[in-house]
Amino acid sequence: MQCPGRIWRHCCSRTRRRNLEKISIRFLLKKAVGANKDKYEIEMKYHDYSKWSERASQWVRTYFETLRDQPVRAQTAPGEIAARLPIAPPEQATDMETILEDFERIVPEGMTHWQHPRFFAYFPANAAPASMIADQLTNAMAAQCMLWQTSPAATEIEQVMVDWLRQALGLPDGMTGVIQDSASSATLSAVLTMREQALGNSGNQTGLAGRERVRVYTSAQVHSSVDKACWVAGIGQDNLVKIETDGDFSMRASALQAAIDADRAAGLLPAGIVLCTGGTSMGACDDLPPLLGIAKAEGLYTHLDAAWAGSAMICPELRHIWAGAERCDSIVFNPHKWLGAQFDCSVQFLADPTPQLSAMALRPSYLETQGHDEITNFNEWTVPLGRRFRALKIWFLIRAYGLEGLRGRIRNHIAWATELHDKLAGHPDFTIITGMRFSLFTFQYTPQDADPDEKTAELLVRINNDGRIYLTQTLHNGKYVIRFQAGQFDCTRDDVMMAYDVITELAQ
Ligand SMILES: Cc1ncc(COP(=O)(O)O)c(C=O)c1O
Repeated sequence: MQCPGRIWRHCCSRTRRRNLEKISIRFLLKKAVGANKDKYEIEMKYHDYSKWSERASQWVRTYFETLRDQPVRAQTAPGEIAARLPIAPPEQATDMETILEDFERIVPEGMTHWQHPRFFAYFPANAAPASMIADQLTNAMAAQCMLWQTSPAATEIEQVMVDWLRQALGLPDGMTGVIQDSASSATLSAVLTMREQALGNSGNQTGLAGRERVRVYTSAQVHSSVDKACWVAGIGQDNLVKIETDGDFSMRASALQAAIDADRAAGLLPAGIVLCTGGTSMGACDDLPPLLGIAKAEGLYTHLDAAWAGSAMICPELRHIWAGAERCDSIVFNPHKWLGAQFDCSVQFLADPTPQLSAMALRPSYLETQGHDEITNFNEWTVPLGRRFRALKIWFLIRAYGLEGLRGRIRNHIAWATELHDKLAGHPDFTIITGMRFSLFTFQYTPQDADPDEKTAELLVRINNDGRIYLTQTLHNGKYVIRFQAGQFDCTRDDVMMAYDVITELAQ
């Protein structure tokens, strides 16, 4: 077919030109509609959701069925995956089948598999299947849950879920809370609250320049999110006082008291204490009662980081480890770590939300809810305004497995990790460096006449290149040690025992 441009050039009479003009416009319109029709046919529509969701679910099913055969840690080199993607974005729509095939071809082998039953590194980030389904529903509604009125069910279910978890962890009636994205955000909220409490709620208004130096106390066993919170809150690393620990790696109460006294004498402003139950490196737990006694006597705000070990507190027999937690002003624990809620999901309990609201709440006119001044708008409890509907996955999780089902998993993880600990302790070439804390211990490879740090680091590389298990390292009292924790939702005793075979086989 001739193109309209060529027809135009060969005509002369005015009538013919007008007629051709009409034809030409019709042709162009038809062409445009035709092209768009193809384009729109390719584009994925909402009514195609179940088709592609079914296709994705099939992939998920195969993924979990074959996961044990995959290396746990990604075996790709830096830049390898990026090199498989086009440099520029596509101008035209791509059909979903091609997109999913590309996903299957490129992505899984470039992933470290956090849901692998032999993921023994860091701490777990579990995704129990029932919580994955909840998140799928959340994704479909894609609600912005910043205010009660922008999603009443999300706010109200969040209130109930925080209370279910409060009961599950044995915390006192009356403690309330909020679901955040991460423990880092909850700790930042608590540190901002400490700062504002100490400054009489004037820091947000005046800024910190020229003000008293606000001091926060913690131990070297807490997670680096505490350091970051002090940076972001304008308190500064120099004003985060790391108190020495005793033989059990709990903050030493006498050293805390001495530091507070010295700071007051120097005209500095003590604001709060960050405590931990289950520190990241080797699971350190502060002995809370004497430290909380000092906090109460000194009028200091307290925040307890139990991001990982908080989940274990659903087991009543473990609660003695955080005895006193009920007296903390703020506690964070991540159901997305050990409990099984799909990442991300971090619960911050508050003895009284008022101080945090004083430090955090802003209500411009465009965020007012007509006629409902008293309702809970969770954005006022946290730094970000926008928030996902995270409570749904807790609701699904607790109902689908029951607290007994969740407790059973945690008890198994601890029992199996202890069994592995005991086996390694009995091996002549291995030394336990820090003993069992919940399901975590650390060890070194210590064959005779060799540098244990060097040997341990080399062994770790061999283990993770092998891929059957995944372990990570930390420095403990200057020693390079391997951490072992069991906590993946689907992990079995055989998976944990395989770690012994892999570790001892690759040590030779
Ligand atoms: C004890 C502890 N606190 C805080 C964090 C930070 O958690 P998030 O990634 O939720 O900020 C971690 C992370 O592993 C942790 O182990």
